[in-house]
Formats: sequence, C-alpha cells, structure tokens
Amino acid sequence: MRIVTRVAEMRTACDEARRAGRTVGLVPTMGFLHAGHRSLMRAAREECDFVVVTLFVNPSQFAPGEDLGAYPRDPEGDAAVSRAEGVDLLFTPMVEEMYPEPGRTTVHVDGLTARLCGASRPTHFDGVTTVVAKLFSIAGPCRAYFGRKDAQQLAVVTRMATDLNLAVTVIGCPLVREADGVALSTRNAYLGAEEREAATALARALRRVAAEIVEGERDAAVVRGIVIDTIASQPLLTLDYAEVVDGVSLEPVTRLSGTVLVAIAVKVGRTRLIDNATFTFEGADKGVDEDDGVIADLGSTCSRADAGSGDS
Ligand code: PAJ
Repeated sequence: MRIVTRVAEMRTACDEARRAGRTVGLVPTMGFLHAGHRSLMRAAREECDFVVVTLFVNPSQFAPGEDLGAYPRDPEGDAAVSRAEGVDLLFTPMVEEMYPEPGRTTVHVDGLTARLCGASRPTHFDGVTTVVAKLFSIAGPCRAYFGRKDAQQLAVVTRMATDLNLAVTVIGCPLVREADGVALSTRNAYLGAEEREAATALARALRRVAAEIVEGERDAAVVRGIVIDTIASQPLLTLDYAEVVDGVSLEPVTRLSGTVLVAIAVKVGRTRLIDNATFTFEGADKGVDEDDGVIADLGSTCSRADAGSGDS
C-alpha cells in the first residue's frame, strides 16, 4: 500500500491506474477507521481494481464549537487497517494541502440539506459537498463508496454527482452495527459507560418501528411517536430530531410507501449521535423489505419482514 500526502501524487496515481485499464474505487473517510469504514473498503475491493482510501478530517464541515479539535485520530492504526483491507493507495493530505488558501468556492446542494442534520448543523453539508467534490475531482472517474449510516450525506452527495455530471458513481453501503445494535461511529469513542448503554435506545427505537411496520403500521406520525417515546424513556438522551421522510427527496411523508427513511439524532452529554433505517414498501403496501439487513441487524423482527403485512 502506498501512502501519499500530495494532491498531485493522488491524481497521478489514479490516472495511471486508469491508463493501465484498472477501475478506481474511492472511499472518503475522516479516519479513526472502524468496521463501518472497513465494510466500504471491502465493497470497493470486491468491485474495483485500484482501491483508494482518503483520510482527511475536513475542517470546513465542522462549525465553530463542534468537535474538530477533539476528533479522534490514529494515523498509524488507520494505515494498518487499510493495509489489512488490501487498499492500494492511502491519501492523507494536511489541511494546507487541501485548502492552500481560504476557498472562495462552495458546493451547495439545495433543499436536501435543509432538514434533518442540516437543520441543527446549517453549514455542515456545504463543507461535506465541497470537500467531496474536491476529492472526486482529484481522484477522477471512479466508483465512490459511502455508508448509509449517514443517509442524508449519501443522498446529498449522490445528488451533487448527478447535478454536476461528475464522472463518479456513488454507491451506498449498508449501515454496520455493534452486537448490541449501536451504529458504529467514530464519535462512540466519546461515550462513557452509561452513555454508551443509553445509546442503545436509538437502535431499539428503530427495532420497535420495524416491528410495528411488519405488523402493518403505515402512519408516519405513529412511527415518529414510537421513536420519540423510546428516546424519551432514556433520561441521558436529548432528542434533536425524529423524522420520517421520503428516501430520495428527504421530504416528510404522512403515509409509508415507496422508500422511507426513519432518521434519528440525539445528544448524549456533548456527543451527537445519529441512526436510521430505510424501509421499502412494494406495490400496494404488500410487504416490507429490509435495507440490506438493517432490520435483520436490529433483531429478530426481521424474520417477518419479508412475509408481507397484507395491508392495502
Ligand atoms: P466518516 O465519518 O469518517 O465516514 C466515512 C464513511 O464511512 C462515510 O461514508 C460513512 O457513512 C461511513 N460510515 C461511518 N460509520 C458507518 C457505519 N456504522 N456503517 C456503514 N458506514 C459507515 O462521513 C465522513 O467521514 C465525511 O463526512 C466525509 C464523507 C469523509 C467527508 O469529509
């Protein structure tokens, strides 16, 4: 595995790989790699000839007062993880390399960034889309892998690539969870033992939602109520949002049909945690199809998920 820190080196390495007839798979990360990141690397490794991981804690997606300074870093560990996953190229630029001078160009995706995390982090997605557009530009034509852990980020980046005709295919990958259901996240490292236990309520809320959907619930307000009640039962958690939205437009829905995203954000102490599940309803509400095992990961209710509710 080669490690490069310069934009020019990264660009040349990707260009050379393509010239040699190899397809490029890109996995953008902010490092402190865990099994969620590894799953993206594995997907890229399976589907692409030349796998590139980027490690860059992007200052422009953190607002003043957020955790940029405290964001955990482990460059050596990240290199070891990447090597173990068969990554070809690790790109670890310094801030000055990515932003040699304050940028005057911002990529903004309208609408999709207004709700959910965008409501409480109004500058966050501009930071994400601007750095991801830069990474896409540096990597050139490729397949880029993003986790459904950050479902809104995935929707926003996908739309950006479409709107700007970028030569990048954005691939969404399943959300990876710990054994107790908690979604893997770098920010879990901030949690004390009691907070970590409290964090299980997010997955529990989604598991309850899944169970009700399997039983035939199709009212978004009821689903939202289940999430709100489950989070409220855990005193260490403060709800930021519980939303039931269309999986593509991210607009709120009243009835569950098509692809629906149930998304949650909470504060536990000073740490912000997010989680979500995507549910797909086929035809006339005949069945529920889990999002690549999201319900399966959440618990036993999945066994009934594909049985169909018969609700019409
Ligand atoms: P980061 O939080 O490091 O996440 C990098 C990628 O890993 C994202 O696509 C994220 O969705 C995915 N990921 C994180 N936890 C996951 C989990 N439990 N299961 C599946 N995938 C998971 O997201 C970012 O960095 C940044 O915003 C970035 C896109 C790199 C731009 O700076």
